[in-house]
Amino acid sequence: MRANDILEAIGETPLVGIQRLSPRPDVKLWAKLEGQNPTGSLKDRIALRMIEAAEAEGKLRPGKVILEPTSGNTGISLAMVASRKGYRLTVVMPENASAERVRLLELFGAEIVFTPADKGTNGAIEVAERMARDDKYFMPFQYGNPANPQAHYDGTGAEIVRDLPEVTHFVAGLGTGGTLTGAGRRLKEHNADIKVIAAEPELGELVYGLRSLDEGFIPPILDESVLDGKFLVSAGDALRATRDLTKEEGIFAGLSSGAVLHVARRLAERLDAATIVCLLADGGWKYLSTEAWSPDLDLAKKQVEETLWW
Ligand SMILES: Cc1ncc(COP(=O)(O)O)c(C=O)c1O
Repeated sequence: MRANDILEAIGETPLVGIQRLSPRPDVKLWAKLEGQNPTGSLKDRIALRMIEAAEAEGKLRPGKVILEPTSGNTGISLAMVASRKGYRLTVVMPENASAERVRLLELFGAEIVFTPADKGTNGAIEVAERMARDDKYFMPFQYGNPANPQAHYDGTGAEIVRDLPEVTHFVAGLGTGGTLTGAGRRLKEHNADIKVIAAEPELGELVYGLRSLDEGFIPPILDESVLDGKFLVSAGDALRATRDLTKEEGIFAGLSSGAVLHVARRLAERLDAATIVCLLADGGWKYLSTEAWSPDLDLAKKQVEETLWW
């Protein structure tokens, strides 16, 4: 790929076979490696799209400060795009975000407002909404911004259809719902029989980046009519599968990717033949300071819970 600048290098991520992880020979598993984006996650796609949409609509002008509640990845992506385009950024996030996230935000020049860890991202959303009443701020608000699913419709979904037209199932994590809604819509336009499956954490279980709808907040951009089903995942299932990705396939991915792989394998056990695309949302780098890969799984789980929250 050749790009005139880093923003042009967003998207066009590799689709990689992960057949060693399939429980059935006729169920083909593929991984879409969103960790290959410039800041290492799928959120580069939506950060660029939300900012460019706001510029085009006149909502974001020089001098305005971008403000966003985030668990980390979206903040880092916005920070990169904002610094490239010359905007200031303030992110609101839970105080126990991993050290790598905080460092990355700082080095891209973002200001951070921390909110209590035990309030999770819902707490960060409340604080950001209050701050956004001051009109020096522009808040893209990924949970309610149609540019979020649109980025996955035009990018993620279209790339999968082009690279693997025989796809039968798509599995992705549910955070804002942008990936499932946008890529899911694009896939169903290609073939209405394609099934779109969500990986959702069990209520009270921590899988970084994902949320349980049973917590009470339904992201406005989530179109539940695109979903054909969901599987619940525990934190332990996600951690185990994240390690399998590294050990069996050499793919170093984040914890929601493990959740997605776990769901894809459970789905595969029920099918005779299928072609399943797993959306691996980020790389493992931003989790290294946690004990996610510790040989002691219980220690890993405890440590991850202490250092990361939603
Ligand atoms: C690591 C990770 N995985 C998955 C997701 C879920 O993606 P989406 O917000 O498109 O539902 C997110 C985003 O919040 C994330 O940060």
